[in-house]
Amino acid sequence: FVRSFATSAQRANAFNHVTVIGGGLMGSGIAQVAASTGHTVSLVDQDNTILGKSMNGIHKSLERVAKKKFENPAAGEAFVKDTMGRISTATSPITCVSHTDLVIEAIVENLETKKKLFRELEAVAPDNTSSIPITDIAVAAKRKDRFGGLHFFNPVPMMKLLEVIRIPATSDATFDKLLAFGKDMEKVTVSCKDTPGFIVNRLLVPYMLEAVRMVERGDASIQDVDTAMKLGAGYPMGPFELSDYVGLDTMKFILDGWSKNYPDNPLFKPSSLLDKMVAQGKLGRKSGEGFYPYKK
Ligand code: NAI
Repeated sequence: FVRSFATSAQRANAFNHVTVIGGGLMGSGIAQVAASTGHTVSLVDQDNTILGKSMNGIHKSLERVAKKKFENPAAGEAFVKDTMGRISTATSPITCVSHTDLVIEAIVENLETKKKLFRELEAVAPDNTSSIPITDIAVAAKRKDRFGGLHFFNPVPMMKLLEVIRIPATSDATFDKLLAFGKDMEKVTVSCKDTPGFIVNRLLVPYMLEAVRMVERGDASIQDVDTAMKLGAGYPMGPFELSDYVGLDTMKFILDGWSKNYPDNPLFKPSSLLDKMVAQGKLGRKSGEGFYPYKK
């Protein structure tokens, strides 16, 4: 009985030890799933207060997973304890990197900060980003053949997809290992070249922006667009509900980057309504108001 949930520790994973740098929303989720699939994990962030919050969040999330996964509460508790036991924390990546098999960067979406981090790391490994080209980050890496992109989706424990990105310098061996790691993490992997937004965001962001433009033009109301896409296209959320969930500041950030780099692409054109809402602090669910009001 004990073995039935301890098997994850005995799996032959592509990587044994994984270092996750950045213990925010994404990093915590990645660390949680890596640990629950049998990897030992070092989670790195700037200070112990942040890391304490990350570990608390992971613990709570694991308890939710355990409730769903195990009928027997003792088995659930052991799963949580076992998984937490595989995660350690550190405030500097340098010490972890010397004995790790894979480094996953999940720090703030800022190219200079990401490049600085990779310059500091002697051993070079994969990266996680929403909208920054992987190649731009790889500029700071010495061993580009061992560099690739892993694009996870929020919330990491729930979302089944992993986009695996290769840059021209990524070796076949690195790419194959990243795909194997994705499977070990129990994700479905898809691969994509290093193009803006990879697959999902490249389609999703222009779609959400086109919905905003429809409302800006007065073609339809927010509610009707959401109802239409849910009932007519079978989407679980309408584009405005989804925008509020993602965060309007995040959408603007992605769009601003793309429109700067590709000024001629009409799909990446800035939106004055989006700019105005972000300036007013209407960022979506996290700020209590976006296209819809939320209880704080
Ligand atoms: P977040 O703001 O929740 O977490 C970022 C963490 O990185 C913070 O805890 C911060 O203290 C830490 N950090 C910053 N600089 C650091 C450094 N030099 N060393 C160590 N830690 C450092 O951000 P989130 O949402 O987790 O995003 C992380 C990355 O993942 C970003 O590149 C983002 O674009 C990408 N991403 C985000 C998704 C989302 O839905 N939030 C989805 C997919 C990718």
